[in-house]
Amino acid sequence: MKAYGRLALAAMALLPLALPAQAQTRLTVQHALPLDSHTGVGAHTFKTAMERLTNGRFSVTTQRNDNEREMVESVQIGTIDCTFTSTGPVGNFVPEVRIFDVPFLFRDATHARGVLDSEIGQQVLARFEPRGLVGVIWIENGFRNLTNSRREVHTPADLRGMKIRTMENQVHMRAFTTLGALPTPMAFSELVPALQQGTVDGQENPISVIVANNLNQVQRYMTMTRHVYSPQVMICNPAMVARLSPADRALFQQAAREAQTANRARVTADEEAGVAELRRRGMTVVTEVDTAAFQTALAPAFAEWQRTLDAAMLSRIREWR
Ligand code: PAF
Repeated sequence: MKAYGRLALAAMALLPLALPAQAQTRLTVQHALPLDSHTGVGAHTFKTAMERLTNGRFSVTTQRNDNEREMVESVQIGTIDCTFTSTGPVGNFVPEVRIFDVPFLFRDATHARGVLDSEIGQQVLARFEPRGLVGVIWIENGFRNLTNSRREVHTPADLRGMKIRTMENQVHMRAFTTLGALPTPMAFSELVPALQQGTVDGQENPISVIVANNLNQVQRYMTMTRHVYSPQVMICNPAMVARLSPADRALFQQAAREAQTANRARVTADEEAGVAELRRRGMTVVTEVDTAAFQTALAPAFAEWQRTLDAAMLSRIREWR
């Protein structure tokens, strides 16, 4: 065999080794709550969609972390790539987000989802970048309800003096103080021990969270206050997003949209089945709530938010149809 022929054969034998396997891009995404929850489903859908759409060029690892502030900090410094988090702690990083935490702002899920998917939601997502974060897409927890271990709550008077765990969220804390409760902010990871030890009497979360986390085991009463819509947002590290090619960025956005659809479908399903499920598990569920009394009691806080948040945007949200 001529020298060049031997060389060609040798080169062919080496081919699989010599051609570098296409490098896989690895992403880590953290979310709160179990995999079998609306947040777990959202994060897992993002993972499978991104891996499918990129034909395996991307590999996404999902991890649970019930401390949402820690997740946002980790995204900011780049130790994880993305998080699916409630807006609970996010206003401490991007103050413009606080507008969506105002109680009784959204009439129902259609209103909330419509606003968040509209130019208003996009405008607030654009405020993440100057704070060293990328706001990718709005997902959700649903409407928050009050649970406690002491008594049935129908009116703000029933709530007076109760120690209520809130998220580390200024707007929510102000609301509970105004209602006469004693808000105690803490990460969700600390909640169950705090309820067991009586450090707090109650907490507030959407049905999806109460069911997924078996909060019925530590709380006897739930009141369908639906006092505030609880958005979630997918937040990513800007350096990671900047490394994506324009084509991959489009696939990334498509995977995020699939995550949003799966997350919202699961919240809808949880809300439909949740009350019956929690009653089956032994919870007393109060559905007769004096919503008008809660709204009236919140008047001083509403007046304050009108001054401290973007009043024009608040009106646009309220008037959104
Ligand atoms: O209560 C909270 O901290 C949040 O609603 C939770 C449960 C982490 C989901 O975003």
